[in-house]
Amino acid sequence: MDTLVEEAWRARERAYTPYSHYPVGAAVEDEAGRRVGGANIENASYGLSICAERVALTRARMEGLGPIVRVAVVAEGPAPSPCGACRQFMAELAKGAKVVYENRTQRVESTVEELLPGAFSL
Ligand code: THU
Repeated sequence: MDTLVEEAWRARERAYTPYSHYPVGAAVEDEAGRRVGGANIENASYGLSICAERVALTRARMEGLGPIVRVAVVAEGPAPSPCGACRQFMAELAKGAKVVYENRTQRVESTVEELLPGAFSL
């Protein structure tokens, strides 16, 4: 997981966070070991802001990655924890994946199922 975490730190450098000043980076990996990163992208219309996790998972889909098996998310300061929207997104696009969230001092490892038990699906 550690090199995926490093990719998440690199992706974080692309964050656009003039409102929260809280850059977050994410990286996801598929069964074949292919990876893409994401970072949070904010907007002056605050509700349009998109989290690092959803940027990474959207990129993964569009770049043709297969089933996502690992997700890493990083930030400095307050330890990041996925918002409800990202939990639901991961429940569909990273089903069964292992997940790690960390800042410089704490690491929390879990699974998508633990983050959103009983997720809605069609
Ligand atoms: N954010 C993420 O990108 N991922 C998380 O897991 C937590 C929150 C972003 C959304 C917003 O741009 C900023 O962090 C502050 O909430």
